[in-house]
Amino acid sequence: PKDVGIVAVEVYFPSQYVDQSELETFDGASTGKYTIGLGQSKMGFCSDREDINSLCLTVVQSLIEKNNISYNDIGRLEVGTETIIDKSKSVKTVLMQLFETSGNHDIEGIDTTNACFGGTSALFNAINWIESSSWDGRYAMVVAGDIAVYATGNARCTGGAGAVAMLLGPNAPLVFHRGVRSIYMQHAYDFYKPDLSSEYPVVDGKLSVQCYVNALDKCYHMYKSKAKKMGISDNKSLVDSIDSFIFHSPYCKLVQKSFARLMLNDFWDDPDPDFANRYRGLEKYRDVTPENSIFNKDLEKDFMSSSKDLFEKKTKPSLLLANQVGNMYTPSVYGGLVSYILSHTTEELQGKKIVLFSYGSGLASAMFSLHFTKEDKMISALQQLKDNVSHVKSYLEKRTKCSPETFSQMMKLREETHNSAPYTPIQSTDHLFPGTWYLTEIDSKHRRTYQRK
Ligand code: ACO
Repeated sequence: PKDVGIVAVEVYFPSQYVDQSELETFDGASTGKYTIGLGQSKMGFCSDREDINSLCLTVVQSLIEKNNISYNDIGRLEVGTETIIDKSKSVKTVLMQLFETSGNHDIEGIDTTNACFGGTSALFNAINWIESSSWDGRYAMVVAGDIAVYATGNARCTGGAGAVAMLLGPNAPLVFHRGVRSIYMQHAYDFYKPDLSSEYPVVDGKLSVQCYVNALDKCYHMYKSKAKKMGISDNKSLVDSIDSFIFHSPYCKLVQKSFARLMLNDFWDDPDPDFANRYRGLEKYRDVTPENSIFNKDLEKDFMSSSKDLFEKKTKPSLLLANQVGNMYTPSVYGGLVSYILSHTTEELQGKKIVLFSYGSGLASAMFSLHFTKEDKMISALQQLKDNVSHVKSYLEKRTKCSPETFSQMMKLREETHNSAPYTPIQSTDHLFPGTWYLTEIDSKHRRTYQRK
């Protein structure tokens, strides 16, 4: 099949949020730490009415309805998540409820887990299926969803929640490049969830940042040589030949630093750097080693300022959801893609080349790329891709702001009732967006039932 890629995409985020500057005050953090230091404005969160199943039910049904396709048109459905509420039963099987009346039970795929990387692994599996002899001509759907919550302390402000569903098939308006996927995997205890009775991870914040940056360097290096071979880039600086770089975003400041890091890598790889212009004043970093550069504050600051204009143009537009909702975990980088689509007109999107970097602690990471179609006959498909997510900005505005006290109580409620059975959720459903699935009951055998608003 030709032009395998993303045919449609849908995103869901919680209807409640907490303001990060109010959270700074509430947490006793210094003013500006979360908003300027980490680059976050708002953080979405879920009450006891939502869990990973409801999030995925919501986003899948919405994607199907908006695109007027039948549940029979799906031949593969895979979920990427690290929000585990059952050690055996997958979220995918819960989603099969939506397919019941269509009679379609012939759907490959199951759940995939490794921190924030599960969605990307699911996506690669779906693309591979379409390109394989197992493909039966139908669409694949990939869902990435998570509820990102941390214990009280300095990581709590980097939470978030949401889900992204992608419809994949041939002749797509957003096409995956072949032969360029670059992978970096390694054993690390930077962020993991060994306590099966808790929603919270164990985090070594500093190590997680170090692992993220190192994985980025490694993936970028490999991606660059593959992109050159495949004719995607012929420039000295890859940053110049790609229109946008979209990153997994634990918090927006790390993404800005990561973009600067790409420029640093281009600088190291350049046999004849332009010290008069782009790399003015950066001669002194020529011989710094990658390992010694990660926590070099002067280097970081200088490369961030040299790359600022390019960052504003090539990456900042992809940070809308990350800034307004927080780290959604598996959907984070795909929320970045949605934000990028939202911030450009259909004409602007045509022909644009984008690179995505996906990172999941533990660790698994990948860099890969896509381009938006520039064929005239595909314009309406591209328009449809964009129209699908046109509600996002108004939905962000329509959300209910909650006080840090309410947010904190909600975290406590989730903490106390996580894994409880039987359990009847106590929080109101009034604030939920129309079309949202929510939890109505967990019976004594832990069986969950849901309703749609
Ligand atoms: N005004 C402006 N900036 C400030 C202020 C202030 N008042 N106070 C602090 N800052 C800056 C700091 O200088 C720092 O910036 P810098 O790194 O550019 O120097 C930034 O704000 C953060 O401050 P730190 O003291 O470094 O933050 P802390 O160590 O308390 O926590 C961390 C940050 C590690 C990200 C924590 O929130 C965490 O552990 N989060 C979860 C792990 C995570 O997201 N890791 C990323 C990859 S893995 C993943 O995706 C889950």
